[in-house]
Amino acid sequence: MPTPSTKLPVSKLVSTAIDAEADRLFRALLHVDCEPGRQWNYEDCRRLAPLTLEINRLKREQDAVILTHSYVEPEIIYGVGDFKGDSYFLSQQARDSRAKKIVFAGVVFMAETAKILSPQATVVVPDRGSGCSLADSITGEGVRRLKALYPDAAVVCYINSTAEVKAESDVCVTSGNVYDIVAGLPEKRILFVPDRLMADNVRAELKRRGVDKEIVSSDGTCIVHDQFTAADVTAARARFPGLKVVAHPECTAEVAAAADFVGSTGAMMKYVKNTPAPYFLMLTECGLVGRLQVETPEKRFIGGCRLCPYMKLNSLEKVLQVMTAPRPDQIITLDENLRRRAARSIERMFELTPKN
Ligand code: 13P
Ligand code: SF4
Repeated sequence: MPTPSTKLPVSKLVSTAIDAEADRLFRALLHVDCEPGRQWNYEDCRRLAPLTLEINRLKREQDAVILTHSYVEPEIIYGVGDFKGDSYFLSQQARDSRAKKIVFAGVVFMAETAKILSPQATVVVPDRGSGCSLADSITGEGVRRLKALYPDAAVVCYINSTAEVKAESDVCVTSGNVYDIVAGLPEKRILFVPDRLMADNVRAELKRRGVDKEIVSSDGTCIVHDQFTAADVTAARARFPGLKVVAHPECTAEVAAAADFVGSTGAMMKYVKNTPAPYFLMLTECGLVGRLQVETPEKRFIGGCRLCPYMKLNSLEKVLQVMTAPRPDQIITLDENLRRRAARSIERMFELTPKN
């Protein structure tokens, strides 16, 4: 006997599937209102639903996974993402993935890291222009020049760096493990690239811990996080009693000192989820507030919305395009010798990251 649904005409079945998907998206994104000029009402979700349905179908057909950084638009994270999180978590997922294809909705250095760790997979990016002001601030040659000036230093690269820079480094770090890894290195002198502001935060944290190191850094900054000021924090605290201020270590040391908590985007989310407070000020890219509005709709966030122009180059349309007809520039390729050298610094990071 035919099932009731097979009695429906195909056009009706399609529109039923679209309605169900629109409903799923709408329920997930209902509370997101952090981005000026953007909201996810039912009509928006109905427009997005055919895209997410098709991308999810292609994932199964192609044996693909989609890794999404928390800063990309929420319809990507909650519509088609298989894994969502910070750079460390997504690197672990890339390392452990057995999928034939990895679509990285984030920025290019993250997709390169995925390719370094999962060379057997085809790794693609929705937009090759999704750079990063930190990763773009220094080349491998730039690191070699600094190494010549400080030959006794351990070279530590923040994961927001190119594969070339990682290949020149002794160990890679992320915002989640940087303090513990640098504190535990045997070398007294550390050459830290490419984030000057994170280097300032490492200096301050090691001083607090009583660890004696000399940190030399290159001169990159994140164009999103370098905008926040300690005066913003003071003004917000005056207006919102009981406010908790949560900052990323790419902010200045003055901002970090003024915050209640400093950590990776993953740690920032955990802190908010576990902390009772009337208001939160999130000193990071606005996408993280969007994730928190989805996952903790009862929490209240104050402050403006700062967007990373690189992360926001990702869209569902581009994810669909890269999965159907990728252009050569969207496929990550690396010289094998360079990949192996870069892999060593990331593997050392995994070894040195405290397990908890
Ligand atoms: P996280 O690894 O903390 O998510 O940071 C990545 C990033 O680019 C922050 O600007
Ligand atoms: Fe790079 Fe800053 Fe964008 Fe993060 S937020 S990807 S550090 S430019």
